[in-house]
Amino acid sequence: MGNIILIGFMGVGKSEIGRMLASELTMNFLDTDLLIEKMEGKTVSEIFKEKGEGYFRDLEEGVVKALQDYDNFVISTGGGMVLRPSNVEGLKKLGPLILLTSEPDVIAERLKSVEDRPLLEVPDKEAEIRKILDVRNPIYHSVADFEIDTSRVTINEAVERIIGYVQSKSFS
Ligand code: S3P
Repeated sequence: MGNIILIGFMGVGKSEIGRMLASELTMNFLDTDLLIEKMEGKTVSEIFKEKGEGYFRDLEEGVVKALQDYDNFVISTGGGMVLRPSNVEGLKKLGPLILLTSEPDVIAERLKSVEDRPLLEVPDKEAEIRKILDVRNPIYHSVADFEIDTSRVTINEAVERIIGYVQSKSFS
């Protein structure tokens, strides 16, 4: 059976799309950020502030290890999860990596009043998004098994495309 892993930057729709995908396919849904918040009893912002980004990244790595015997899950990952090659390796053992992307201005618009993304606590969010994406995009694209640009598609459409991909793979 296996799992489906959603990767990509903040604000591309991983959680919303992941929840709907899981419900359409009668799979379980898991969001690595929510799992970390539960484990630590703190929000991601609090973890970044109190312990630093490195500590958060170590927690992410621990989560990937802890998920290795999971099956039948749609797993939505934090935007920085695939920056560590060991996480990519662990996630690929669980299932295909579906990359969701969006244009920087669309991401900035979606996240304009959001305050729970510590990396975007800067005056010019869009500039920061572009800067981080410049570094991350090559990594995102190189590890992805399938990609969808969610800038202008509905959640439903994105879900249908992922289902199409997963089904085509299981018959090939
Ligand atoms: C991060 C993305 C966030 C969260 C943390 C760091 C990143 O998750 O893990 O704020 O480095 O891109 P989402 O992608 O779910 O917003």
